[in-house]
Parts: sequence; C-alpha cells; structure tokens
Amino acid sequence: MPHPHRSYDDEGDGLAVILLHGYPFNRSMWREQIDFLSARGYRVVAPDLFEMSDKLQLVAGSVERETEGQRQAEACRTVLTMASMAHAVAASMDELNIDRVIICGLSMGAYVAFEFVHLFANRIHALVLAGARTQGPDEDEKQSREQQARRILTEGMAFVADAMLPNLLAPRTLAEKPDVVSRVREMILRTDARGAAAAQRGMAARRDYSNDLADIDAPTLIIAGREDTIRKPEDAEYIQCGITNSRLESIDDAGHLMNLEQPEIFNRVLLGFIREAEPHRRIFIHTLL
Ligand code: MLT
Repeated sequence: MPHPHRSYDDEGDGLAVILLHGYPFNRSMWREQIDFLSARGYRVVAPDLFEMSDKLQLVAGSVERETEGQRQAEACRTVLTMASMAHAVAASMDELNIDRVIICGLSMGAYVAFEFVHLFANRIHALVLAGARTQGPDEDEKQSREQQARRILTEGMAFVADAMLPNLLAPRTLAEKPDVVSRVREMILRTDARGAAAAQRGMAARRDYSNDLADIDAPTLIIAGREDTIRKPEDAEYIQCGITNSRLESIDDAGHLMNLEQPEIFNRVLLGFIREAEPHRRIFIHTLL
C-alpha cells in the first residue's frame, strides 16, 4: 500500500527498482509501474525527490544535528541539485537496507540517475533513462529556469500547469485521455512550490552528462515517447550511441510522460529489460556462453 505520510513508496519484495520522477511531479506518477512491478517479484521504491531536504534532515538524526539538518534542509529548498538528490537516494537505500538497484529516471529523474551512476556506479545493476538528455543548460535555459523559479515562489504552481500541460502529453493523449490530463494537472498543482523552485535552480546548475556516457557500463535501456516535444528523438539516440551496453525503445502515441500515457507498453518494455538485466540471469547466461 502507498504510504501517504512518507516521502517515498516502498512496495513488494525482491530485486530493488528505484523510480525517479520528473519535474514538477511526484512519486504518484509511477503508480502503474509500482503496482505492476511489485506484483511481479520486485521491490519498488519511489521517492518524492522534492522532499529530499526533509530526508536529509531525517538522516541527520540527533537533536544537535537536527538544527544543522534544518539549516541544510532550508539550503536544499533554495537549490536542489541533481547530485544532492542522488546522494539522498543513496542515503535512503542505506536506510532501507538496499545495496544495489535497478535505477529508472524520467526527465529530471534521468539527470538524477546520471549523477547517481557517476557517484555510485557500484550500487547499480542496470539503468533506465526515459525522456532523457545529456546536454547541460545554456545561458537562455538558465535564465528561463531562474525566472520560472521566482514566479513559482510568488504565484504558486497554476501557471506552470497551464504552460507545461500541452507540451508534456502527446496530441492523442490530450484529445482522448482526459483522465490522464487531469491527473497530470492535479499532480503539478499539488507539487510543493518551494521544492519545485529549488529543483528548477538545481536543473539550471546541472552538469553536462555527455562525457559520462562512455563510462557507463551497466546494461541501459533508453525509452522515448515518439511524440515527445520536450525531448527530441536525437536526445535519446545520442545517449544510445554513447552507452555501449544500451538499447533504445520508442513508444508510439506517447509524449514526455510516456509511462502515464502508455502504461501497458511502458511496463512491458521495462519488465522485459529488467528480466534480462537481473544479475542472476546475467551470471546464468554468462555461464552458458
Ligand atoms: C522533466 O520532465 O523532468 C522536465 O521536463 C525536465 C526539464 O525541465 O529538463
């Protein structure tokens, strides 16, 4: 069952899969994947990345450190860097007694996944990157993210929902799946404005991950929505060319939020990859060869 008072879901037993959400969403975007994978023998953990500052506080522990933790939390709300979220994910894994995982990030979650692989390469079995890109921000992008962060802090999330919705979803989703459209809108409106602003600033400060690709040796699945206007097909192809042990799957009638728009296809592709990438299978196949 989901835990409404915790900043992450942790469901099922078995090999752990961590799902990292995009901006400006929360862990609820993974509901279909959590249900699907946890019913098929996997332990699925989905954190709310914008609440990671609270997580740092929690990890800090003692009363004396709590004050420091609170200060840290405040700072993280100002700029929530991709690396700090990756560190918080690793800290959560320690707490949950998870040594190694399959890590799956969508969009902003994929930036965090890149940082995670860079920082903790020996803690992953396999990597899934959906709606991802590697390029760092140029000056225009930095400025527009800073403007959006300031506006969010004064106006809240409503204008973000209005501006982003038409670009997040494929035309067919917008026309034929009103439940998905309203779910995405609600999810954006429920997102904590301070966390979203801090994440915008964190994305403005992110690294360019292009040079990391050659170092990634974990089996990697790249998933793209064919109608994604936020990430172009070239972004996914570039990543696929750069990671040796990788493959690319593109999903029809799906935009940037492909896992919500085409959950059955996304789940099938994800499960197929995870089964192939499971460590015991890889050892088994290796022994046969
Ligand atoms: C996301 O979906 O996480 C965002 O589109 C990421 C971004 O703004 O680069």
